[in-house]
Amino acid sequence: MYTYLKIRMFLDTDEYDNIHHHLRNILLSKNAQAIMKKRTKMIVYDTVFNNNDREKELIDNVDYILDYQNKAFHEHEKKYGNTKRFFMNFRLDTANDECLSMLEKLIFENVKRCMKELDNEFDEKVHTIEYWLNNKYYSIHVDCDSELYQNTNGEILRQGIHNGIIYMDDNYEPTFISEFTREDRDLNTVQRMDSAFVLSFPKKFRCIAFDGRNYHGAISYDKHQKEKRIVVAYNVWVKESCPNTNESILSTNNTNPIKKDDFALIDNNNYFENIVFSPLNYAEIFEKDTTNELHQYIDYVIHQHERNKVDLNTAGIYIFASPLSRYSLVDEMGTICFEIKNLNNDAKAVDDVILWKKYTYKDIIPHEICDKIIKSCEEIAGNETWPLMHSAYKSSSISLDSLDIFNQFMSDVFEKNIIPAIEESYKYNFSWNIRDIFINKYDCAHNANGLSPHKDGSHITLNIALNDKSEYENGGTKFIDDNEVISLDKGEMLIHCGKELHTGVQITKGTRYVMVIFMDFVFSV
Ligand SMILES: [Fe+2]
Ligand SMILES: [Fe+2]
Repeated sequence: MYTYLKIRMFLDTDEYDNIHHHLRNILLSKNAQAIMKKRTKMIVYDTVFNNNDREKELIDNVDYILDYQNKAFHEHEKKYGNTKRFFMNFRLDTANDECLSMLEKLIFENVKRCMKELDNEFDEKVHTIEYWLNNKYYSIHVDCDSELYQNTNGEILRQGIHNGIIYMDDNYEPTFISEFTREDRDLNTVQRMDSAFVLSFPKKFRCIAFDGRNYHGAISYDKHQKEKRIVVAYNVWVKESCPNTNESILSTNNTNPIKKDDFALIDNNNYFENIVFSPLNYAEIFEKDTTNELHQYIDYVIHQHERNKVDLNTAGIYIFASPLSRYSLVDEMGTICFEIKNLNNDAKAVDDVILWKKYTYKDIIPHEICDKIIKSCEEIAGNETWPLMHSAYKSSSISLDSLDIFNQFMSDVFEKNIIPAIEESYKYNFSWNIRDIFINKYDCAHNANGLSPHKDGSHITLNIALNDKSEYENGGTKFIDDNEVISLDKGEMLIHCGKELHTGVQITKGTRYVMVIFMDFVFSV
């Protein structure tokens, strides 16, 4: 569903003008995502309000706590000077879901959603949520009970079972998340390991959950500093080990309870992956508490985005991984990686079998959607013949994103039927780049009746028949090397390697409509 929602969101905001760009971003780097999810338990949600009042309520909640905290801090300073650490946290009263303030409701919804994704249901009888507001920079740390700070040996270390942050503004100063825990550091394995790290740039109302046992922290950077960087942080504790917390200071007497559709959490599976050639100097980061080394990566991301005129916050997170850690990816992903590598070198090895196999699936597009697609294509074309998109091949095509049905297609068909079929075929959750989706019309009357032998520009090509076999004669896709013709009936899909030489067999009567999707694996080592 998120694919659909994201596209809707982008379309509404006019942020981009190329739909394939959105799709690419949305589907990009599933491999990196899979690995990083496993290692850091990272999940990103964006919040969208359907109601301005609710958004204002949230901001009021945050301002209220900040004010309160400021006053408490001044009193604390008067009393203790700088000698004692000031920290103010609150307990979220999950038993009173109806009465929660907007801020607490948002935290609670994120907790429930993210824990569920990590197969760890929030249970009110067992768990407690602690939250606090941050507008300061702390050194790179692991999340734990504040007792750690009082014990210089660091022997008492109580850690929550789940944690996350919600950003309250857009910002160029990211959160840095490493792959390392306190244990890794104690065992001194940090510098020897080839590792990846993550930068997450604050976006207003974005929630990012990750394993707080991994070293992380906000990176301050004068060059890109904006006015404020306010973050709501929360920890979920098993009740017995929860540290002391203050009662909520937000009104629990909510006369206007928050309704289910007042706001929505949208899965942001946009992970951008970049290569790092040398691992970070973790000794510097941990011992000397300096994160200057990360500034070059911040500069890099900002520069890339300015150049491409893309909003910095499009990506949920940025992953920086060294080539070696990508090779370990190959081990995890297996044979298909090597076949894709061969493909990129334009070579087909004898034992390349997965990528070059042909896969067919029935009932990919429901018949009524097939009909709708054809109908709206014909409406767009009017009395004209369809445009010759690839004139050399005599193929007349209309692009799917020019049709009204695009959104429905992406949510009801692409995400529900097509992606699972691809994953079933190649046995791995790959990342994809969609090059193009269009509808081809083969029509005897206009001399666009077939396609001469060719290879597609794509890694894989999907063909889906949109009308009944009985409406035309001959047709189908012919594969030259093995002299095989595959013809599809309405709603059926064929997946084949784009680099395999093939023709669109000429039809001798009637009209044939077929949807074509060109896709690439996003994979590089
Ligand atoms: Fe933290
Ligand atoms: Fe083709």
